[in-house]
Amino acid sequence: MNKNEYVDTDLQLLFHAKDILESEGMQSGKDTRHHGDVSVYSHSVDVAVISLKLARKLRLNIDEKSLIRGALLHDYYLYDWHVPDKEHRLHGFSHAKTALRNASADFELNKIEKDIIKKHMFPLNISVPMYKESVLVCVADKISATRDYTKQMGWFKEHANLIRAYVQSYR
Ligand SMILES: [Fe+2]
Ligand SMILES: [Fe+2]
Repeated sequence: MNKNEYVDTDLQLLFHAKDILESEGMQSGKDTRHHGDVSVYSHSVDVAVISLKLARKLRLNIDEKSLIRGALLHDYYLYDWHVPDKEHRLHGFSHAKTALRNASADFELNKIEKDIIKKHMFPLNISVPMYKESVLVCVADKISATRDYTKQMGWFKEHANLIRAYVQSYR
């Protein structure tokens, strides 16, 4: 199928990364919580879509395929960080490295994709992104995470009266 037939970002993801989206590792992310009740899978798709939209808005000349593939795999750490385990005690600092190791084992990665995954936690991890694509994913990841947490706050606000009534019933 011709690439130009794909105009929608979701379809662009399918065009460049059907193998990743359908892989066992990515699919397992549908059952793994990431932020609040958002799964790792939907967070990863969200980051890929935001990165792509940012690149287009800023009219950046980028490697779209690498951007999408790196974005989808940036949190490919394949465990639930909410479950305490010595192996991922320092999840925030170590998961980018774990994601790169897992993604390299399951897919053929180029240097841009590797950089995206390895550096997406900048500035928490101090290695500086080397490519425009890595910077975009780094920013998109923060936008996505902030949106997820804001949604959770929205839920609390919406249910504030119910929660208050419930707590007061215990007095
Ligand atoms: Fe991450
Ligand atoms: Fe992320």
